[in-house]
Formats: sequence, structure tokens, C-alpha cells
Amino acid sequence: MSFDLVFFGGTGDLTWRKLMPSLFQAWRHGKLPADGRILAVARDERDDEGYRLWLKERLQAADSAKRPTEDEFTRFASLIHYLRMDLSQPGDYLRLKGWLDTRSADTTVMYLATSPHLFPVICEQLGACGLNHDRVRVVLEKPLGHDLASAQDINRAVHAVFTEKQALRIDHYLGKPSVQNLMALRFGNALFEPLWRRESIANIQITLAESLGVGTRGDFYDRTGALRDMIQNHALQLLTMVAMEPPSSADADAIRDEKLKVLRSLKPFDAASVTRDVVRGQYRSGSIGGESVKGYLEEDKVPTGSRTETFVALRCEVQNWRWAGVPFYLRTGKRLAHRHAEIVVNFRPTPHSIFPGASAPNKLVIKLQPEDGLELHLLAAKGSVASAGAGAVQETLSPVSLDLDFDKAFPTDRVGAYERMLLDALAGRLNLFVRSDEQEQAWRWVEPILESWRQDPHGLRTYGAGSWGPPAASALVARDGFAWAEEA
Ligand code: BG6
Repeated sequence: MSFDLVFFGGTGDLTWRKLMPSLFQAWRHGKLPADGRILAVARDERDDEGYRLWLKERLQAADSAKRPTEDEFTRFASLIHYLRMDLSQPGDYLRLKGWLDTRSADTTVMYLATSPHLFPVICEQLGACGLNHDRVRVVLEKPLGHDLASAQDINRAVHAVFTEKQALRIDHYLGKPSVQNLMALRFGNALFEPLWRRESIANIQITLAESLGVGTRGDFYDRTGALRDMIQNHALQLLTMVAMEPPSSADADAIRDEKLKVLRSLKPFDAASVTRDVVRGQYRSGSIGGESVKGYLEEDKVPTGSRTETFVALRCEVQNWRWAGVPFYLRTGKRLAHRHAEIVVNFRPTPHSIFPGASAPNKLVIKLQPEDGLELHLLAAKGSVASAGAGAVQETLSPVSLDLDFDKAFPTDRVGAYERMLLDALAGRLNLFVRSDEQEQAWRWVEPILESWRQDPHGLRTYGAGSWGPPAASALVARDGFAWAEEA
């Protein structure tokens, strides 16, 4: 298969931090179709060689295992080209078309790694010069809008030019290996499905914690906040994968139909439930891993007195027969104690215990990062017995866990999230891309939260960098008689 892959935003952060390194790994592992051209598009005046040198410096700053050797870079770089474009100029799209038309690739992928306000104009111009034929696909990076109306505007503009099957909305969390394994666990094994419901599950927790702050992205982040940056997309997508009904096949639409049903079943928020069930916070200075770090308001490019949230914890419910009454707790934040993403499924306790001492209910932990694996927490008899007085002896149970480390189980052939998403985009596999109706429904659900925060700017709490967020986040879970995983 021959392909052309065009990166709009070719000098942007995402391109050099994630996309090019992932593409390099795919190439290094022999997964990239051989006959490919990669074209970076940006405004600066450069030529192919200048761009390759610029990229080389960045790829060489990676960890040693991921760094290209001289020879590898030279061979990889021969696929890479550069085109200067002003995205508002129709003539520049004709130059792009001229470049692409020097051959007829089986697949052309336009990856829009620009600010989303440019998506409509890019799509319109691609359409105007015929670059929307059926061998072209367009990949749309998040954030796709900042509310429902702006997301719908973008979708209208994209779909005036590209069909739904040509428009791939990326959520890189869906490309993480553990998320693939969640599907395998649920629908490739008979073991858990009978338990995967309200009768057996007490609550589900999804935590996406980062120890980093906003870094150099203070201005972008301040306009976005944690709810839009992580909850509306990544956390809700994970929730749909946990809560969805078994799809009738592995076909992209069969899966996406089921995910959409979950989003539609989420209990809507109103002003009262936002106040009760949603906690937002902003980090103050503190210390992480022994290092002092500054507070959000002291970060570069963050406006004085900003009230943007860098932490959200919320409680929600999926209103259907499978999940009625089971709380789902979602939580994300910057500058938390450590980088750590996981889904914890807490099972109900046994109905009656014949063993003395405290009982710890079973728990399944799907670990997304930093490690990628599964942990099943059980109680087991140690083999020793405690004296219960009067000569009687009793078994004591201790918590143990069955650990599956996917890196050890499958030491080769593992692909990272962006690598997977790029390969899927080239192959036209749509399973892991978000359909427009899913994305709009997710916005519909978070809108009352945004609205209620607009009305009540005073509900923002603070938390020390290096903590697990404001104490109110613990209280939110404790109110139901539960605790976050690290507090249990
Ligand atoms: C991005 C957010 O979508 O995901 C960032 O915009 C965040 O703010 C990042 O840091 C986290 O991704 P990962 O894969 O490093 O957990």
C-alpha cells in the first residue's frame, strides 16, 4: 500500500513530541507501509533538509531506547518532506495538490494537528481543490470545540467536505494498550461478563492523574481547563468502554453505537447536582518527588487571578438496567502526587463471611500508565492459622493480587497509543476513532457543568501540588461509603 501522510501544524508541539516520534517507532518496527511519503506543513520558510535537521534535534532528545541512530534517522528522514503554507491562502492548497499529484497514493491522510479554529478553513480549502476524494481521510486532533455549539460548527464544516467515514476524531487514550485489553477482557473472556453489573459491582473509579503542570501551554490550558481537556474526551471515552453493552461485532459502528448509548444514558447534571457531585480545584505550589513546584497562578502565560480548574472529580451514574445506582467516579488533575492512570472496578463484599477479621472486597484494576496491566485483588488463606482460644484454630485471610504485566506477557510487538492511532488512520480502521454523534453527546453532557460554573465562579477549591486534589474530592466518594483507591 502506498500512502501520503500530511501533518498540518508540522512544527507544532504535538507533531514533534508525539506524532513524529510515534511514526519513527512504527517505521523502526517495520509497521509502516513501505511506500510512504510524510509531508510536514507549516508557515515557516524552510526546505526539506532544514525541516529534517530541526526534527532530528528533537528526536535525538528522546530516551536512549527511542532515539534514532544516525543511520536510522537518515533512512527515516528520506520519507519526510516540508511544504510552507499559509492556511488561509487558496493558492497554497493548489501547491499542496500539485505535490500530492506527483503520484497517486492508495491513501492520503491529512492530519490536522493545528488549532481547531483552523479545521473549517482547512477542510473547505481541501474540498475546493478536490482533495476530499474517497482515498483521502482527515484526522482531527482534540480539542474539537470548546462547547457543544462550537463542536457542532466544526462538524458541520468538516462534513460539508468529508463523509463521517473519512473524518477520524482522535482520542489517543483509546489507542493505549490497556484500553484494547479492556475490550479483550470484557468481550474475549466469559469470566467477567456475568459479574459486570450492578448486582456485583459497588462502584467504578477512573483516575487520570498527572504530576506535570501546564508547562509551556499555560495560555492554551487557561482557555481549556481540566473538564474540557480530559473529562469531556478521555475520561468519558474510558467510561463508555467500561460500561458499554457487548457489541454485536468488532465493526467500528457496532462498537460506536454501544458507546453512544452509554453517553446517552448518563444521568444529566443540573445546577444542584453540579454543586453536590462535581469538585473543581486549582493547584497551589507544593512539592512532587522532593522537588518544589510552583502554583498554577505562577505558571508562564497564565493570566493573573485565573479561575481555571486544573482538577476535577465527579460522581455520575449510567441510567440503565445494568448500572442503575452504581456510582462512577471520574477524576483528573495536573500536579497530583504522581503520574498514574487506572480504572478500578470495586466489587461488592461477600454477602456473609465465615472467616474472622476484616474482609476486603475484590477489586479489578486496569492500569493504563505508567505500567500497563491488570491486577485482580483477592483474599487468600496464608496457610498459617491463628489460635482462636480454647484450642480452636481459625483460618486468617490476607489480601493478595494476581498481576498481569502486559509488557512482560507480550515483550515484543507492543505499540504505543499514537503509533497505533496513526497506523489505524493509514489502514482506515475506524474502531478507535470517535464518531461525531459520540463527541457531541459528550459535550451535551458536560455543558450543564460549564454553565453552572459560569454562574458560580466561587466553587473553585485549591490543592497543594503533590497531593491527590482538594479534600472535597475524598468527601465526594466517602459520602457513599467508599474511598479512592489510594485511600482505601
Ligand atoms: C492531552 C491533554 O489530551 O492528554 C494534556 O491535552 C494531557 O493536557 C495529555 O497532558 C495526557 O496524555 P497522556 O497520554 O500523557 O496521559
